[in-house]
Formats: sequence, C-alpha cells, structure tokens
Amino acid sequence: MAAFRELGLAPWLVEQARQMGLSRPTPVQAACIPPVLQGRDCLGCAKTGSGKTAAFVLPVLQALSEDPYGIFCLVLTPTRELAYQIAEQFRVLGKPLGLKDCVVVGGLDMVAQALELARKPHVVIATPGRLADHLRSSNTFSLKKLKFLVLDEADRLLEQECTDFTEDLEVILGAVPARRQTLLFSATLTNTLNELKSLAMNKPFFWEALSEVRTVDELDQRYLLVPETVKDAYLVHLIQTFQDEHEDWSIIVFTKTCKDCQVLNMMLRKFNFPSVALHSMMKQRQRFAALAKFKSSIFRILIATDVAARGLDIPAVQVVINHNTPGLPKIYIHRVGRTARAGRHGIAITMVTQYDIHLVHAIEDEIMENLLLYFVMNHVLQMCCPDLELKLQEFSVEERFVLDILTQVYITRRDCEIKLEGMDFDEKKEINKRKQMILEGKDPDLEAKRKAELAKIKKKNKQFHEKIQQTLEEKKQLQLKKKLQKRTERQNRLHAKEEK
Ligand SMILES: Nc1ncnc2c1ncn2[C@@H]1O[C@H](COP(=O)(O)OP(=O)(O)OP(=O)(O)O)[C@@H](O)[C@H]1O
Ligand SMILES: [Mg+2]
Repeated sequence: MAAFRELGLAPWLVEQARQMGLSRPTPVQAACIPPVLQGRDCLGCAKTGSGKTAAFVLPVLQALSEDPYGIFCLVLTPTRELAYQIAEQFRVLGKPLGLKDCVVVGGLDMVAQALELARKPHVVIATPGRLADHLRSSNTFSLKKLKFLVLDEADRLLEQECTDFTEDLEVILGAVPARRQTLLFSATLTNTLNELKSLAMNKPFFWEALSEVRTVDELDQRYLLVPETVKDAYLVHLIQTFQDEHEDWSIIVFTKTCKDCQVLNMMLRKFNFPSVALHSMMKQRQRFAALAKFKSSIFRILIATDVAARGLDIPAVQVVINHNTPGLPKIYIHRVGRTARAGRHGIAITMVTQYDIHLVHAIEDEIMENLLLYFVMNHVLQMCCPDLELKLQEFSVEERFVLDILTQVYITRRDCEIKLEGMDFDEKKEINKRKQMILEGKDPDLEAKRKAELAKIKKKNKQFHEKIQQTLEEKKQLQLKKKLQKRTERQNRLHAKEEK
C-alpha cells in the first residue's frame, strides 16, 4: 500500500502522522485522501476502528495549511464525547499549524462557546443541536465561508431515530455555503446512501471496503443464551471471570436504557467492581469525568447506553458485553466495534434471551456471518423454544458459579432499584423531557394532554377492534355449531332410514 507521502500529503503532515503512530495509511485513508485533496466530495464506508477519522482530518489540515482562515471546516457528530475525541485528533495532527479548534456541544456553557466561535477558530466540531441553537440565537459568527463540511457517523445524523437531528441539520445546512466540500463517513453508510448522496454533490467519490463481513476479523463474536430473569447473575459472573483472568482488560457493558445503566453500575459497585456509568441523563461534567476515568484505566468497566456505541476509540477495551440484544443490526455493529480496533483482538458477548432470537437472526443477516454461537442453559429455555435451531458453539460459562450468586445478585439489584427510586430517577427524566419540550417551543402540559388523548383513542380503537374480533369469532362458532347440528341431524336421519 502507498505511504502517506504518496497520497499527496505534505511532509510536515506525514511526519506529524508518524509521530502519532500512523506510519502507513489504512485502506480507507489510502482510498479517500487523494480524492479529497483533489477537491471532491467523499463518502467513506469502512469498518469500525479502521481509521476513518484521520481519513478526513489529514486532507482538511493539508488544505487548511494552504489557505488558513476561520471558520474553515465544520465537523458534525452525533455525540458530545465523540466531538471532543475528534477535536483532539485535529489538535494533535494540526499542532505545527497552531490550529485553533472549537467544540460546540450541549450540556456546557453556551456563552463561552459563543465567544470562542466569534474568535473564528479554524475548525468547529459540533453536535447538531447545540450548533443550531447558536445559529438561531446569534450572529456573532458565520459559517458562510467554510470550505469543508464533515459528517462523522453520517448515517446516524441523517436517520430519524430517538434523537432526530433533521430540524437542526436544516438550520446548519442553511448556514453553510453551497460551494463546499462535503465528507461523509461511517461504518454503516449503505442504508442511508441516497440521502447522503443528495448532500454530497460535488463529483462525490464513494468508497466502501470490500468485504463479506461487516465486522472486523479480529473480533471474536459470541452469543450467550440466558433466561431474562437471571441475566444479571451471568453479567456479574462474566465480569468476575474476565477480571480474574485478565487484570489489564477493560470492558464495556452496553445497556438498553439509562435506568438500566444506572442500576447495573450501582449493582456492580456493590460487588466492588471498578465501574463507571455513561448515559444521557448524567450531567455533562459527570459524563466527561466517567469517560476520563475509564480511558485512563483507573476504572476498568464502563456501563453505557448507546451514547457510547459510536466512534469512541479506547484501545484498552478488550471486551464488549451487550446486556441486551440490540434491536437494530447497525447498532450491534457499532457497539461491538468499540473493541478489536486498529488490528487488535477483542471479544464481544451478546446476551440473548428467549425473546431476542429474531433479533440475532437479523444481526446475522446484516453482518453475513454464521456466528450464532449458543449454549442452552437449562430445560426451561428448551421448553420455551422447542423449535429453536441452534448452531451450538458454547460460550463456556460454569453454570454452578452463576447459580451460586443468583440470589445475592437478585437481592442486590432489587436494593439498588429501591435506592434509585428514592433518588427520583424517573422524575428527573420527566423534568428533562419537559425542559426539552420547552426548549423546542412546545407546551409540556398540552403535549401531555395530547398524548393522553391519543392513548385514549388508541385504547378505544383497540377495544373496538377486539369487539369486532369477538363478534366475528362468535359468528364463526355459531356457524360451526349449526353446521355440526345439521350434520348430526343428517346422520340421525340416515341411521333412522337404515334401521327402517
Ligand atoms: N494509519 C494508521 N496506522 C495505525 N493506526 C491508525 C492509523 N489510522 C488510524 N489509526 C488508529 O486506529 C484507531 C481507530 O481509528 P478511528 O477512531 O479513526 O476509527 P474509525 O474508523 O473512525 O472507527 P469508528 O467506526 O468506530 O468510528 C485510532 O486509535 C487511530 O489512532
Ligand atoms: Mg470514527
């Protein structure tokens, strides 16, 4: 593969990359850097941990060094922590330029950010919500002259999931010039390709790593079939085993909800595990502090929601445990991609309950791999799913150890849940929701009323539907009864005739 020099990068940048440990370009870098340097738009789709960040940071820095001004480049990312991580790469690689960057994310002081933006930093790295707020509320900075617009985790920014960025993106796209270079990167671009292509219109260069499997080869992917009710005991046992066998391994446990994340973290702490939590209901300062502790390996276990699923690059992470099977294969790909990065090895274990089998099949289809590696834990499960076709490759867990801690884990979790209820966790969530609505210009009480009315209508519809079903069923039964009656009468008549 060509060296960085041969891709058209300036010697100072090649040297800077070398100092950061990037001596040879990865395939996505080798493919995307030259077209970006030629001024083309670029859509880069490559596996997790394959160096997509440097694939856009390096050419942007090179272009900036040729014509330095601010604001030259805007990078959008879906999460705050990722924004800081990207800023760090810009800062380190752009050091010889005296690069000025500015991170604009929610949860932090808006006035300080506005002042920094007014000082015309070369590169702005932002989450869409906060940047759009700045654009709506002030005119102390302009994006009208920027040369590069980068969307990292571009598919996430464009899809309309729980956090929908559409409105904020509209504001931002209205503030950037039409004549610009647009660079879009993700490990899972393909599903949103059409929307993305409409953003990148300047002779877009599309590059996707050719591979049958969408996860990296160095990743050992396992499934652990466990009954829902004893999941936590398995989790404790897994973590204990990894900690006993590999002291220097870091583990990320992904959970479905913020509450789950909080409870599990409290529970693991009660068992004296060095764990920290990361979820969107924490204050931003706490989020940064938790991540810093985990990154520096002071705490070896991170319990996180999907807020940590994309982009985060922490080389010490050897294990990813999915406490819940991700509902979308795409989320699975990003979550497990937090380990086995940049050629390292890693293991991902997904807990699968009797209710999640269909999700695993969807994941299998998406990543095109026969990785259904199961073990059937007990007879209950076999009874629940008698038709289950398992390609058994057991992830060996000593069940007797799990059984030993079952009650203790159950009681500890219950204690933590009660404690959390006392801390008004749900109430805080409600308050946060109301705050968000007010910020969006909605009346929370009116919204609640609307929601209640909608639920009422839905309930009525359901009842109506059930009544129709019931009537149809009764009618069917009646017809059947009549039919049977007729048949019996006919048979009786026939018998009577025969007897005569
Ligand atoms: N050319 C290179 N040589 C060696 N290591 C590299 C090279 N390029 C990047 N890396 C390292 O690889 C790791 C992963 O890079 P990066 O975070 O950019 O991956 P990514 O493709 O963006 O992954 P994700 O899809 O999870 O966001 C980083 O630690 C980075 O320093
Ligand atoms: Mg990335």
